[in-house]
Amino acid sequence: MSNTAEIKVGGQSYELPVIEGSEQEQAIDISALRGQSGVITIDPGFKNTGSTTSAITFLDGEKGILRYRGYSIEDLAEKSNFLEVSFLLIYGHLPSNEEYTRFVDSITKHTLVHEDVKKILEGFPSTAHPMGVLSSLVCAQTAFYPESLDPNRSADEVDMSIIRLIAKMPTFAAWSYKNQIGQPVNYPDNKQNYTANFLKMMFANPAEAYEVDPVVANALDKLLILHADHEQNCSTATVRVVGSSHASMYASISAGINALWGPLHGGANQAVIEMLENIKKDGGDTKKWMAKAKDKNDPFRLMGFGHRVYKNFDPRAKIIKKAADDVLEKLGVKDPVLDIAKGLEEEALRDPYFVERKLYPNVDFYSGIIYRALGIPTDMFTVMFAMGRLPGWIAQWKEMRENKEPIGRPRQVYTGANERSYVGMDER
Ligand code: SDX
Repeated sequence: MSNTAEIKVGGQSYELPVIEGSEQEQAIDISALRGQSGVITIDPGFKNTGSTTSAITFLDGEKGILRYRGYSIEDLAEKSNFLEVSFLLIYGHLPSNEEYTRFVDSITKHTLVHEDVKKILEGFPSTAHPMGVLSSLVCAQTAFYPESLDPNRSADEVDMSIIRLIAKMPTFAAWSYKNQIGQPVNYPDNKQNYTANFLKMMFANPAEAYEVDPVVANALDKLLILHADHEQNCSTATVRVVGSSHASMYASISAGINALWGPLHGGANQAVIEMLENIKKDGGDTKKWMAKAKDKNDPFRLMGFGHRVYKNFDPRAKIIKKAADDVLEKLGVKDPVLDIAKGLEEEALRDPYFVERKLYPNVDFYSGIIYRALGIPTDMFTVMFAMGRLPGWIAQWKEMRENKEPIGRPRQVYTGANERSYVGMDER
């Protein structure tokens, strides 16, 4: 394909460069278009618009490919661990033994949070959704580390913010849950690994001993890997835009948590389980619910299905579906909603409405079933997604800052009233 594109508008032709990425993806660079023609492009939801170039994650929606820094998600989910994948995403290479040990030791040393965080936590009623508490506690870190307010200070300071954020996220997550159930918080236990420490802070309580099940801790580590990054999704694009104004990393990540919360994005894992529960309560008639999902007059959508990019199976959904079977079997858990989920999937995969629109199960379709088997409460599913996505958000924020990208400020086409004069109240 030629490395230029020609756009004809108002009888004039304009030539624009075409750029090509390392996986032969092509894009028309329209940065000069308005200056040359006075015309802009428009693309609600950015379905056909690239916001940046990035070396972090590659995904091919047609082929169902997902790679972090060139390594396939299947390889990483099977052979790596979440902190190693976090290092890979943020620093661009698999760590040496020494780099890995230093990274993990630093994170372990920073799991404790300032005691004043408890005063913020106590301000939230137990009705507070853990995602709202989480985004508030993350943003509140700007108060405890005011030097982080200036992201241009030094690479060391940015690295320190990175360590603190990855280290404290499980503590904030577990504490947001304890606040919801009215139990005392648990302090981190630095003898435990990352996911075991989180599970202990979540489920230990003064009334009974709690032993972390390694099957649960390992399954959780794999789930965090699968959620770690996903190129320019809604919440990552939010982190980049907020960070482009030179807001601190904590403020940018807090914004990403709030974007992830929506049921069309990361909130879908909670919405999937609520949907499956509703279908079960309604007698398990999947055909009725499939008809609702296809009915344009019915707002119901089949949660966990469809994807902006994947027009084939979401590779993560395949891995999670297998992990769901393994974990439920290992834990001896029989979950009736798993059968409903499999029934819905089978029907959707042969239904013309879904086939024509290339709607397949996405990462959220099966993840809630595993989280539930691991004892994670439904309100915490999206918090788990945020914990997993954290290194991806950090990596993308860091890349945007290092590339000195300009502030994100889209244009628009105005469709409101033309100029008119003010009229006094009596004349209206
Ligand atoms: C995540 O971007 C990412 O990478 C996100 C994510 C990540 O890792 O960050 O992968 C995580 O957010 C996964 C998606 C989780 N959301 C859900 O499962 C919610 C249910 N899915 C949909 O709402 C929808 O599929 C989206 C939001 C995921 C994608 O929406 P798009 O790309 O804007 O597509 P669309 O809404 O324009 O849908 C195209 C057509 C429409 O029908 P027509 O107008 O062509 O007739 O497909 C239909 C839609 O009505 N459709 C669905 C459907 N999803 C799309 N119909 C029924 N059920 C669905 N789930």
